[in-house]
Parts: sequence; structure tokens; C-alpha cells
Amino acid sequence: MRLGILISGRGSNFEAIANSISRGKLDAEIAIVISNRPGAKGLEIATARGIPAKCIPSRGLDREEYDKLLIEELKANEVELVCLAGFMRLLSANFIKAFPNRVLNIHPSLLPAFPGLDGQKQALDYGVKIAGCTVHFVDEFLDSGPIVLQSAVPVLDDDDVDSLSARILAQEHATYSQAIQLIAEERVVIEGRKVRILPERAA
Ligand code: GAR
Repeated sequence: MRLGILISGRGSNFEAIANSISRGKLDAEIAIVISNRPGAKGLEIATARGIPAKCIPSRGLDREEYDKLLIEELKANEVELVCLAGFMRLLSANFIKAFPNRVLNIHPSLLPAFPGLDGQKQALDYGVKIAGCTVHFVDEFLDSGPIVLQSAVPVLDDDDVDSLSARILAQEHATYSQAIQLIAEERVVIEGRKVRILPERAA
């Protein structure tokens, strides 16, 4: 399964996916990494690993114009699954239509709690005792598509945003690859808002 990974910055989720592939735990290949921000650290990581990487700057373009460029690049690279990994932009309905049920996102909260920016800080400020991350299919709304997997972590009394974010990030790195592998194994079925995970096939 050919992945197109969209990033805006650090790229640690992209790197975790690349590590899962090189360790033989994820049956996929990264066709291209695209950042909407020049200078994203994830682009350097990709280049150092010999993974095709490209910056398509979003500044100054409206959503439709930008998404058209993204679709062209992803299609040119024969991408089968688009993985948003810290990609800080909403996608248009036309983008979603170009990859129906084939766009995934990772979000650092247990959705539907705390969508949008700074999910970890929102959780801490609210005072929840359990936080976590969500891998979900993307629709044209913010952090709202059907949920594939979630992973929970405790919130400790002395947590700050950095300590809680680090605990969640470790789960993000494991959970994203698991979700992509389930899709590669064709074990993910979307039924309305719900996602059913089919059992492993007998060998
Ligand atoms: C991750 O924590 C990811 O869940 C979050 O941005 C970070 C990117 O880190 N995404 C969102 O908040 C999307 N709403 P990374 O660049 O190191 O993968």
C-alpha cells in the first residue's frame, strides 16, 4: 500500500511510520512526504532516509487551489492512503472526494473531546484523568471522521503540557502504525460513523 504522508513540522509520527515499515511491522511503503511549510524538520528526516519528500507551500493559496496541487502530487505518486501526521490544515470536500475513505489523521486527544489545536493543553486545563490519542478517517470537518483506533494514557497530578504530550506522543507513534496496518490487511470496515475491525485471518 502506497502512503502519502502530509506534515507541517517535526514529523515524529511520519518517522515512527517509517520505522515500523523498516522493522517489517507495517506492510506499506512511503511514496512521498509533503509538507505545507518550508523548513519542516520532517522533510529533513525524509531526505536523510532517502524517502521522496517535497514542500508545497500553502501560504497565499486558498484551500481549493492548494488542495488541487496536493491531489495532483499525491496522484502522480500513485498514493493509495493519505496519512495526515501533524498536518495543520483542514482539507476541502474536493480533496476528500479524490481519496474517498482513504485519508487518515492522528489527533492528540480522545475525540470527540478536545478537537482542534493543543488537544493536550485542553485536556490538562479541563482536568480530565484520562487522555490519549485518536486515529480517525478524515472528512471535511475538523477532527470529526469515523474513529479507527484510540489509545488512552493517565493524566498525573504533576503533569504539565510537555510531560502529558510526551506520554500521548509515545502512544501516537504505536497507534498510527497499527491503524495503517489494519487498513493494509483490509480489516477496516466503515459503517456510517462506526468502524468495525475484522478479526485476523487464519494463516
Ligand atoms: C502530533 O501530536 C499530532 O497528534 C498533532 O500534531 C503533532 C505532530 O507531531 N496533530 C494535531 O494536533 C492535528 N489536529 P509530529 O509532527 O512530531 O508528528
